Amino acid sequence: MQTVQARGVNPYTIHVGRSILQQAPDLLEQAMKRCKHRDNRVLIVTDRHVARYHLVPLSTALRKGGFEVQRLVFPAGEQLKKHKSLYGMLRAMVRRGLTRDSTVFALGGGVIGDFAGFASSNYMRGCHLVQVPTSLLAQVDSSIGGKVGINLPEGKNLVGSFHPPLFVLMDIDTLRTLPSREFVSGLAEIVKYGLIGERRLFEELERFFIPLSPGTAKEIQKALTEQGHFLDELVLRSSRIKAEIVERDEREQDLRMILNFGHTFGHALEQATSYRKYLHGEAVFLGMRMATLLSETLGLLDADTGARVCGFLGRFPTPRVKPPSVKRVFAAMGTDKKKRGGTLHFVVLEALGKAVTKSDIPDGLVTQSIDRVLSGAVS
Ligand SMILES: NC(=O)c1ccc[n+]([C@@H]2O[C@H](COP(=O)([O-])OP(=O)(O)OC[C@H]3O[C@@H](n4cnc5c(N)ncnc54)[C@H](O)[C@@H]3O)[C@@H](O)[C@H]2O)c1
Repeated sequence: MQTVQARGVNPYTIHVGRSILQQAPDLLEQAMKRCKHRDNRVLIVTDRHVARYHLVPLSTALRKGGFEVQRLVFPAGEQLKKHKSLYGMLRAMVRRGLTRDSTVFALGGGVIGDFAGFASSNYMRGCHLVQVPTSLLAQVDSSIGGKVGINLPEGKNLVGSFHPPLFVLMDIDTLRTLPSREFVSGLAEIVKYGLIGERRLFEELERFFIPLSPGTAKEIQKALTEQGHFLDELVLRSSRIKAEIVERDEREQDLRMILNFGHTFGHALEQATSYRKYLHGEAVFLGMRMATLLSETLGLLDADTGARVCGFLGRFPTPRVKPPSVKRVFAAMGTDKKKRGGTLHFVVLEALGKAVTKSDIPDGLVTQSIDRVLSGAVS
């Protein structure tokens, strides 16, 4: 097992390895020693897909370790992140006698992490949380950084807080049961880390994927599962990059914004299609191509590097669906604009591994980048 330290106001450790769910009780035991009051009650929150494979091993391990385990299993999907379910979970916690010294284990993808994390940040003004991410996206992205929250009918993640966990338990073996499309969607964030922060990571990804792609999602997942060491390395390095960026900018003021590379476009694509056509990472793959073209148009990135990046991103499968109109995608950027005080910020590339934020970009340049990708003008 390897560890990554998430430093900051409330530091915690990210444990990365294989078959490490069994270590949950020992790690919780250690964490409890740092807490003022001890409470052995644990609530595992998960969804039905994840419960099928990973709930019993985790709850059995915790019970064997002497913890009193209760479980809440919700339907899978983004629909969970709403106030009604939150209220339901908080009331279930009261009925089950949980206290502010009890611990919530969020076992699942980013939806469970955000939802159960937000509930734990509110329950009796905050109880303990352990993140056990089981999707690739949750492992390399959403379980690190302490952001938790739910959606409003007006937009995604509009209600939330920062609630760092006691620790993160990242068992890479749980990815074996993840559907291939979800797996590839999570890869988008890993590619992003290479592009915004670590040129060498991007080059290693090129060396791995170019000989075998373009492949189907299934083929990509199989190739990475067979090269287990490389996958372990990718998860570990990505967690490290995310933890470092968050550490330098815990409350998301400036630096952390570069994590949004491809996301301003990607979120707009998801929203313009009512979250029905693209998985998050698929929209981010397309969004990163748009952001790369924008970087080129702004004269920040040379044409050869732009073509290299767009060519690589284009190797990952995205759904063959009728895309939304450019006008709709651009209009959907309004939500991001509102969140940022009326200004659209774009993360653009200056070189491989180097990203900066820019605002006040003429609308025409933005729509041109969207159009070129959606119309297939860029391979
Ligand atoms: N808090 C943050 O910093 C942050 C960052 C990025 C994304 N997010 C949030 O993360 C969410 C998306 O996360 P996601 O992509 O993990 O989606 P998800 O949680 O919906 O998981 C995707 C699907 O995979 C299934 N699944 C997960 N792990 C599995 C496993 N090991 N075996 C079988 N099935 C498994 C889930 O049941 C679900 O059907 C969004 O709500 C997004 O807003 C949060």
